[in-house]
Amino acid sequence: MMVHVPGVLTPEQVARCREVMQKAEWVDGRVTAGHQSAKTKNNLQLPEDAPEARELGNMVIEALGRSSLFMSAVLPKQVFPPLFNRYDAGMTFGAHVDNAVRGHAASGARIRTDVSSTLFISAPEDYDGGELVVEDTYGRHSAKLPAGDMIVYPATSLHHVAPITRGSRIASFFWTQSMIRDEAQRALLFDLDMSIMRLGNDHPQHKSVVSLTAVYHNLLRQWAEM
Ligand code: NI
Repeated sequence: MMVHVPGVLTPEQVARCREVMQKAEWVDGRVTAGHQSAKTKNNLQLPEDAPEARELGNMVIEALGRSSLFMSAVLPKQVFPPLFNRYDAGMTFGAHVDNAVRGHAASGARIRTDVSSTLFISAPEDYDGGELVVEDTYGRHSAKLPAGDMIVYPATSLHHVAPITRGSRIASFFWTQSMIRDEAQRALLFDLDMSIMRLGNDHPQHKSVVSLTAVYHNLLRQWAEM
């Protein structure tokens, strides 16, 4: 399941990201890559402990808290501090799978990566190439979204970033451990939640709104890991 979450960052927040990043020092993106992905990864990153990454990371975390779509699709237990990357012309990240477990050096925290997220900070017209391509059981899906929008996809999937042929592509990326480990269960809960919301909007008095909401919460109660 891939979910497009529009407007995670406001245009002002996107502008702030670009301003901070212009002055920041970028390092080789292989610092956070595993053995396999290091071979195919060619991009730049803000160091995890850089003050710029912390300031912008906190901005992203706060924005996620206001996104009911992100909450419903991911059911987050813990979000890894957001990282930031840049691909200039000629850079790419070949097919890989994200590491299953991520440790955060500063806090010592460790999470299981259930869900991956890419939040686009560059506008799509500012670069050519750079699509995020995700392969799942239904085939290949490509995402290149407006600045401030985010794509959420299972961390279990093979994915790559197509080579950039013009301009620069800047994004934030991070992993989340979900309360619902199983992707099929997570997708089912998301579908149910969206359906209840539509029903509630179209027919607010319908009795099934309450009973279906109970089903949702009772499934969540059965499956959630705390
Ligand atoms: Ni990845």
